[in-house]
Amino acid sequence: MDKLTVRDFDASGKRVFVRCDFNVPLEDGKITDDTRIVAALPTIRYLLNQGAIVILASHLGRPDGKVQDSLRLRPVAERLGQLLRMNVPVTGDALGVGTEDAINRLKPGEAILLENLRFHPEEEKNDPGFARKLAGYADVYVNDAFGSAHRAHASTAGIAAYLPAYAGLLMEREINVLGNLLENPDRPFAAVIGGAKVSGKIQVLKNLMGKVDVFVIGGGMANTFLLAQGKGVGKSLAEPDRVDDARAILASAEEHRVQVVLPVDVVVAKEVTRGSEYKTVPAEKIPTSWHVVDVGRQSQTLMRQALDPARTVFWNGPLGVFEIPTFSVGTKEMARYLAGRAATGVTVVVGGGDSVAAVEQQGLAEKMTHISTGGGASLEMLEGREMPGVAVLLDRRPVETGKAE
Ligand code: 3PG
Repeated sequence: MDKLTVRDFDASGKRVFVRCDFNVPLEDGKITDDTRIVAALPTIRYLLNQGAIVILASHLGRPDGKVQDSLRLRPVAERLGQLLRMNVPVTGDALGVGTEDAINRLKPGEAILLENLRFHPEEEKNDPGFARKLAGYADVYVNDAFGSAHRAHASTAGIAAYLPAYAGLLMEREINVLGNLLENPDRPFAAVIGGAKVSGKIQVLKNLMGKVDVFVIGGGMANTFLLAQGKGVGKSLAEPDRVDDARAILASAEEHRVQVVLPVDVVVAKEVTRGSEYKTVPAEKIPTSWHVVDVGRQSQTLMRQALDPARTVFWNGPLGVFEIPTFSVGTKEMARYLAGRAATGVTVVVGGGDSVAAVEQQGLAEKMTHISTGGGASLEMLEGREMPGVAVLLDRRPVETGKAE
């Protein structure tokens, strides 16, 4: 990564504003998955050990510029406190005299968490006044919120206009791992792309074309490819207005000699609901009034065969209607298969909500090479887009070697 990181400045005695992505799932006020909090610990511990005063900040959910009690960060502060074995107070508001006082009272080696930044509409508007107020708390800015790096908000981008800006350790790892997929993957390199809609994945498919050797395509988005191949998909989720895009991607794959594996058999259900009648049919015989809900056994075998030689695999998106256990077989099977490949030394990188959930539900997260903490962010990075939260960080200048006379 060509950006400076927390290792590149002396944090001792400095007030450091650390933007994290603590946007964790909550149910009845309880955190159901603390992965993003755990992932932020290395940076926080590093700074605390150096004797920094650590001012943590994050958004939670989409409160749309208004205070929403259910989206307060107290549960995050409590979990952080448990993990760090220290008290991490949370302010009542990201701004205000009380918050300023609380920060001024902090000693080196202590941390505080600001209340949900998105309670202020200025955060998402990247308002310079708001960014300047946040910057006023600190001497240095660290962005460790990879999951929000694709957002140009006050705390992810604007604030860097007022403070020297460095990458956190999580940000560094994410960018190195995902960047390596784009620049220098061990070959063969395969991408398994699933999820509901092809429209959200077209840019990734285009950017990875020519970089991957194999595409495995599943999930709802595969239906649009089946349409492009002239097959009927019954009542399945599909995007007829994207059939031309799917056709263009298939043509481009042929040109680039990229193997594309699409489902050859599918599980279809009468309704996309728990308990609905279902059966497996060949992909060219999808009944007109049924819905495709998962990939079939033959497809799974073909997908595995195509992936077997790969030395690097990137996976984003489930292969079926993963929320309904009966239709999550293909996705879970893929998670198990990829965990097995990772155990043999294959680089397996998983990015994106439901594919990560499938891995985690089966206790396989530790087995993968890397699980990205960014869903949208990891996709945007693989789309080849510049991420505002990264662009604003200080560049690492190449070491001057001195010119030979
Ligand atoms: C995420 O969960 O993908 C990030 O925290 C960004 O959240 P957002 O999509 O609400 O900006």
